[in-house]
Amino acid sequence: MLTMGAHSETVVPASVLAPDEHGLQAALDALARGGLVGMPTETVYGLAGDAYDPDAVARIFAAKGRPADNPLIVHLADPEELGRVAAQVTPLARRLAATFWPGPLTLVVEAAASVPTITRAGLDTVAVRLPDHPVAATLLERTPRPLAAPSANRSGRPSPTRAEHVATELGDAVALVLDGGPCPVGVESTVVDVRGTRPVVLREGSVTREQLGIEGTRQAGEDQRSPGTRYRHYAPAYPVVLVARGGMGAAVAALTPEERTSTGVVAGRSTVDALPPGVRVIAGYTDEVDLARGLYGALRSAEDAGVTRLLVEAVAERGVGRAVMDRLRRAAAPH
Ligand code: TXA
Ligand code: MG
Repeated sequence: MLTMGAHSETVVPASVLAPDEHGLQAALDALARGGLVGMPTETVYGLAGDAYDPDAVARIFAAKGRPADNPLIVHLADPEELGRVAAQVTPLARRLAATFWPGPLTLVVEAAASVPTITRAGLDTVAVRLPDHPVAATLLERTPRPLAAPSANRSGRPSPTRAEHVATELGDAVALVLDGGPCPVGVESTVVDVRGTRPVVLREGSVTREQLGIEGTRQAGEDQRSPGTRYRHYAPAYPVVLVARGGMGAAVAALTPEERTSTGVVAGRSTVDALPPGVRVIAGYTDEVDLARGLYGALRSAEDAGVTRLLVEAVAERGVGRAVMDRLRRAAAPH
């Protein structure tokens, strides 16, 4: 069964509002009542609720079908708030916040006792970030407390990168979705533990190891991962096959004529242009930055198109390409 198609038939889509004064006010009213809002960020859309209201946070877990042991990211309006959310702000945390915020870097710090247990899934740490998106920034400035916001997908689904993805997938679990357009980055933030003197990457994202100054170094606790990375991020109904760069022509040539009609392809533009007719091109990308932006949308489109398998051409593992390949390997893992 193609879950997306089945899902969108049964869920009445949530309303999508422009982020004008009317839309913002409606979102603020919903959040004040303990409700949830689809919030655009530069990475992916978040499912936002009051991080300090345990009932609102419980609604987030329920709406996503998220395991209770997978903690949420707390989103701030101002870097100064870090001192209130964290029990201890290390010099490293301070330096990375000053360098990368606002931006797609999530810092894992020792949690202040005031952060509700449910928000941090019982851990003594909390993940914090300050998003770089005008709509998220405005919303965060105008709410009295920080917002907890996981990616606004049901657990095990691709993260949403457009307002419609949230509206059709979550339906009335959200009061509304603010439409901030397509997310400019397209993959989730980099998560780093900053309790020590060197950052430990727990989840790859668009802020790279090079940017963090830890390229090529072995890190203590390197094998440590975010709780969320234990779960399959995306288990499509169709198998995803990763094809080496330059190998798509041969991969397509190896398909039987019957297979060819039901196989979807995501590949570089020049590769796509050279494919034989009849191949179901789902998306063509220019480079790893472009694929990062379009990847989750392409995975959804492939479902909607009813493909029986999806061939994806690998990108260079530089910059955000590393996070893209991380997500693709997870999607392609046998299940
Ligand atoms: O870009 C993003 O980070 C998006 C936008 C909406 O901000 N949010 C997002 O949240 O991707 P979510 O919940 O889908 O992923 C958060 C990741 C999970 O892998 C979770 O396990 C990890 O961060 N995480 C949260 N709190 C943590 C903690 N205290 N220690 C280690 N990992 C943590
Ligand atoms: Mg997520």
